[in-house]
Amino acid sequence: MSRYRYLFSPMRIGPVVVRNRIVFSAHLTNYAEDGLPTEQHAAYYRARAAGGAGLIVTEEHSTHPTDWPYEKLIHGFHSAVIPGYRRITDAVHRHGTPIFAQINHNGGQGSGMYTRLPVWAPSPVADPLFREVPKEIDRREIAEIVAGYATVASHCKAGGFDGIELQCSHSSIVRGFLSPAMNIRTDEYGGSLENRARLLLDIVAAVRDAIGRELALGVRLCGDELIEGGTTVDDAVDVARMVEEQGLTDYLNTSIGVATASLYMIEASMQVPPGYALFIPSALRKAVDLPVVGVGRFKDPLQAERALAEGHCDLVGVVRGQIADADFAAKARAGLADDIRLCLSCNQECVGRMGLNRWLGCIENPLTGREAEAEARGVDAHLATQPRKVVVVGGGPAGLQAASTAAARGHDVVLFESSDQLGGQARIAASVPSRAEFGDIVRNLVHACRRSGVAVRLGRSADVHTVMAERPDVVVVATGAEPARPYWAPPDADTVVDVRDVLEDRVRPEGHVVVVDELGFHQATSVAELLADRGCTVEVITPGMVVGQDLGVTLDLEHWNVRAAAKGIAQRTDLVPMGWSRGTLTLLHHPTGENVEARSDWVVLAVPQHPVESLYLELRNAVGVEVHRIGDCVAPRRAHAAVIEGERIGAAL
Ligand SMILES: Cc1cc2nc3c(=O)[nH]c(=O)nc-3n(C[C@H](O)[C@H](O)[C@H](O)COP(=O)(O)O)c2cc1C
Ligand code: SF4
Repeated sequence: MSRYRYLFSPMRIGPVVVRNRIVFSAHLTNYAEDGLPTEQHAAYYRARAAGGAGLIVTEEHSTHPTDWPYEKLIHGFHSAVIPGYRRITDAVHRHGTPIFAQINHNGGQGSGMYTRLPVWAPSPVADPLFREVPKEIDRREIAEIVAGYATVASHCKAGGFDGIELQCSHSSIVRGFLSPAMNIRTDEYGGSLENRARLLLDIVAAVRDAIGRELALGVRLCGDELIEGGTTVDDAVDVARMVEEQGLTDYLNTSIGVATASLYMIEASMQVPPGYALFIPSALRKAVDLPVVGVGRFKDPLQAERALAEGHCDLVGVVRGQIADADFAAKARAGLADDIRLCLSCNQECVGRMGLNRWLGCIENPLTGREAEAEARGVDAHLATQPRKVVVVGGGPAGLQAASTAAARGHDVVLFESSDQLGGQARIAASVPSRAEFGDIVRNLVHACRRSGVAVRLGRSADVHTVMAERPDVVVVATGAEPARPYWAPPDADTVVDVRDVLEDRVRPEGHVVVVDELGFHQATSVAELLADRGCTVEVITPGMVVGQDLGVTLDLEHWNVRAAAKGIAQRTDLVPMGWSRGTLTLLHHPTGENVEARSDWVVLAVPQHPVESLYLELRNAVGVEVHRIGDCVAPRRAHAAVIEGERIGAAL
């Protein structure tokens, strides 16, 4: 009997029975090639089925050739997809898990860049991200859209799917029709909500006709577009009632925001509280009897159980939670919730890579996105043939990952950490209030080390003698990076300091502080907020076009700008620091070539670091020991690189 009474009770969704309430809801993966599903798709979903998910819903499949907003979209309208569908469904069914296909036309939330065709939408209202005026579709084209959904649904049926989900929520022509902000038609598809919902109901009817009653059919609705004049939860409730009255749909899924204008709320980062979108399924559930899925930053099984127990929803979408840990459900069921590698809601390697047209990964799970490769190599069952003594030096993400992977493979592992706490720079990064959840990466890695039996020596600076005294067969050096002083900062200027000096409390800047952002990530914005909270007057300057440039793809930029404005933090761009003298920072405004001065009491630097490599270089000359180095002591980068290199070396020993 599971401790999660609601989460692990089976339920019926139309003709399909799910063994638990945990849904791996739809999400792009960029694993498709030439519009077709791949082996990687099959392996990716198989891993989540094996990991105990109750229901899997695939990423969207396009229903019409006018819809191609991003390169690696599955073109469901070609029958060539069917063998790939079959590979996916067979792989998932082997674990007794049902799998639905999400089908969609993105409407005006796209461009003609790939198709060389106009985009189709209810009205010629340009999407704020794509900025392309769509063609208002006429009756004939509406009929073509409806027929396209039916065709793709029949391809899905032929490919062995157990159900179809219509994405009518955050990026969809159907959402466009439902939205008063996007639909300004005056015919029977515009105006009243009944008219705006007509396309949705037409599609539901056509798809049901195509799949019959043996497959489940679901509708994913947007509960609040979060845009001026857009749909709200009351509209969603009314649409849900219409869908239920039609009598052809088996469940409702939910979402919040519009994939382009308010994407930062769909895949909310750690700045937004867990379960933030629960008011939507909650409202729908009060109005209809259809099962309703609630989604939005469910990180651990207890949160999910609570949402069910409190009656907000019937099923819980756990997307990033299962991207980070494919075995989320199985671990929860077995009472091993502590073993779950908690998602950080950092968006760095999942959402962030989607925005860069790369395949989906995870900052803390190096196997995500590499499941097919791992299956081919049989990584799961990979125990070391010859157990060895391994010494790891450095307790940041690289060292912790290397140690836990090596120990899990049967090696005898000792880890040295010079400070009295594990986590390295990840722990420091998590020390500011709005970034606390980043610290879960340390929690997860430390837990994995403990579970696999790594012997940790804290507060022990390891030199060549300490390391060699352990009689290691292998040494893995993960000594990280240290702050570096830019050429223009005088060595004796003690009010010019590094971000780490502030976050580790070695200095306490006061008064007017300029933060220099040359990294374009959380370092500058985090320290700026911390200092503003402490009463400093803060200005962030950057040579880039925006402060925190890379926060755009992780969906943190909007939140940062809101908080920066609220805290009175000034931001200035296009400025390159050139020199510092007696409280004056000289800056080059590179678009004009003019020098600008900024007076300040302190300068805090978020600039590139130096690798700490001396131990590695010394050990390399020691006789008879195999030495590797990983992570920032090779080249200072972000946490994903540390984890990947830790995993790679741990798996190779
Ligand atoms: C990388 C990524 C891509 C997504 N793509 C889709 C999609 O194609 N269709 C969809 O309905 N939702 C999509 N979503 C939204 C998720 O279904 C879900 O609503 C969102 O991730 C919040 O759930 P979570 O906090 O459990 O991750 C995507 C989410 C992520 C992380
Ligand atoms: S990259 Fe970050 S947000 Fe995405 S799944 Fe991994 S831990 Fe979660």
